[in-house]
Amino acid sequence: MSEQDLSRIEIEALSDVQAAAELARLALLLRRANTAYHGQDAPEISDADYDAQKQRNAAIEARFPALKRSDSPTDQVGAQPSAGFSKVTHAQRLLSLGNAFDDEDVGEFNTRIRSFLGLDADAPLAFTAEPKIDGLSLSLRYEQGHLVQAATRGDGAVGENVTANARTIADIPHTLTGAPDLLEVRGEVYMSHEDFSALNKRQEEAGDKRFANPRNAAAGSLRQLDATITKNRPLRFFAYAWGAVSAPLAQTQMGAIDRLATLGFQTNPLTRRCDDTATLLAHYRDIEARRATLGYDIDGVVYKVDDLALQARLGFRSTTPRWAIAHKFPAELAWTRLEAIDIQVGRTGALSPVARLTPVTVGGVVVSNATLHNEDYIQGRDSKGEEIRDGKDIRVGDWVQVYRAGDVIPKVKDVDLSKRPKTAQPFDFPTTCPECGSDAVREEGDAVRRCTGGIICPAQAVEKLKHFVSRGAFDIDGLGAKQVEQFYLDGWIKEPADIFHLKARFGRGLQQLKNREGWGDKSAHKLFAAIDARRAIALNRVIFGLGLRHVGDSSANLLARSYGSWDGFEAAMTQAQVGEGEAWEALIAIDGVGEVMAASLVTAFHQEAERASIDRLVAELEIEPVEAPSSESPVAGKTVVFTGTLEKLTRAEAKARAEALGAKVSGSVSGKTDLLVAGPGAGSKAKKAAELGVETIDEDGWLTLIGDA
Ligand code: IVH
Repeated sequence: MSEQDLSRIEIEALSDVQAAAELARLALLLRRANTAYHGQDAPEISDADYDAQKQRNAAIEARFPALKRSDSPTDQVGAQPSAGFSKVTHAQRLLSLGNAFDDEDVGEFNTRIRSFLGLDADAPLAFTAEPKIDGLSLSLRYEQGHLVQAATRGDGAVGENVTANARTIADIPHTLTGAPDLLEVRGEVYMSHEDFSALNKRQEEAGDKRFANPRNAAAGSLRQLDATITKNRPLRFFAYAWGAVSAPLAQTQMGAIDRLATLGFQTNPLTRRCDDTATLLAHYRDIEARRATLGYDIDGVVYKVDDLALQARLGFRSTTPRWAIAHKFPAELAWTRLEAIDIQVGRTGALSPVARLTPVTVGGVVVSNATLHNEDYIQGRDSKGEEIRDGKDIRVGDWVQVYRAGDVIPKVKDVDLSKRPKTAQPFDFPTTCPECGSDAVREEGDAVRRCTGGIICPAQAVEKLKHFVSRGAFDIDGLGAKQVEQFYLDGWIKEPADIFHLKARFGRGLQQLKNREGWGDKSAHKLFAAIDARRAIALNRVIFGLGLRHVGDSSANLLARSYGSWDGFEAAMTQAQVGEGEAWEALIAIDGVGEVMAASLVTAFHQEAERASIDRLVAELEIEPVEAPSSESPVAGKTVVFTGTLEKLTRAEAKARAEALGAKVSGSVSGKTDLLVAGPGAGSKAKKAAELGVETIDEDGWLTLIGDA
């Protein structure tokens, strides 16, 4: 009987021999599925199918206990695909932190805040400083004092529901006394060094995989589908922040942390209030000196403005608060041999040199590739042409020093000339694209050499496609970087528009796709449905998805909000000429759009091949206009100009607040201006506004209008 047929026999009907064969088949299948899931991000079977197979295995074992294998999938605790934790939309986004790498960055953090708030250099401004725990963040929701939900960070907006697992963590209270009716507590789940070693020892004894570091162990343990496994993994939790609350916890950060401690949370004992930068830095050094004896991993110190009213005024950039920063510990270093320098070509044609290294452990992680930045860097010069590393160049065969800071890509820092092989030759940076053979040129002022092949360059095309399907862009389920690469090689997808032709193409010959490893009838139809679901898509995602140079996620949002609809945006880009005319002026008048980005946009829309490809894509889509973020605000969607002296707000604060309310802030008055906010000393802008009949109000009028008076 073939394997295929065995899988169809009901468990009650299996003979001993068949059961043993079936257990062997399932052990292999589930092991493969595990590897595919964890090794690559492309599972071979669906989560539901995985669960069904695992259940069948367990049921056969229950009926034939004597046949249970020593490598039974039932006992494999380390790694199983999530049959999907349910998703949780956070009531308030979980943010990340900006980084400071040295004392100077910390000084600038202080100055930036003062300038935003309009505080003099000697005005009092207190901060808190506390260790940055190297674990994973968790948001706990308490309603009427009861823990009702625990969610991982996910992408910040949507996380995974891990409530059952969080309940097994001793540091997390199930009930609170005296808490606000609604309280979201945020903090870090981590594993102590001691528990980590013991866990790895147990894993080893059981023949299971060791975890690379405590953070991975904590993440793997928290994200177990089976809460009884989480329960046996000693996880801990420090509370350091909060999300939605029905009543304020305190007036200061320090006060709020004390309140969380009173409510029964563990808070970090090294949290201090500091009155100035010097005290922050002294506390940083103190924490750094204790780092090795803390018993858990930390990777820096977090500074936060203490006064919560000031935190509220400072607000957020797109993903990070203005009122906090992470001061990272210096990077970890190691020496190894440079085996080769490869050149990778990116989506915008940039030729990036990548160091291939003899693998070496840097701070607990094995590193075998590192970036070499660009050709000047290899030659020992920085972007201004000045010497770095005393002008030492880097050659294949050299001993090089590699470092990692945080999660960033490892970098090559230094070279040991005393170990340089006699035969080592200076690196010859290519002047043609290694992927398509087109000329690779450096424009003046650009540190990067770029392929001029544009759309004919396969590397650029593939990278563009990967970007197109990535998270902030079209984010098509089942179509990740790997699949796009494969479809490109097969000649099925050459440009974004082709993605939307896939179904028509395979409607007739679905067999072709199904013959591909990893694709079945169900997954193919699922893919087509996921693609169709993206035919209606928001304008900002389309702009971002085009993958134009200098146009990132937040710029795309800005452009979408400014032009509102695809038609408006496209017409403006078509009309604009680089450096001149009304459409160009309007484009660079958008606050946050500089000339470099504007030129990149306009050039793309005037390049024949690129434009045709954009048009083909747009023909497949129904692009949804973008609404201003806060439609309830009276200034949402309005174009506002500030001029003259503001007395109650700094310019930066006024602008940030206006943008948070959905207004566009422009630097100059034009026919498109809706409102001029003029303080004392307003000059030509007020005059122009009067000529154009633009409504003009003073600072108090503005504060009343937006409800901040
Ligand atoms: S505060 C709005 N405090 O670091 C500020 N974060 O790089 C929210 N982290 O996602 C974060 N220790 O997971 C804060 N003492 C601490 C922290 C901390 C670790 C993590 C957190 C965050 C990440 C940002």
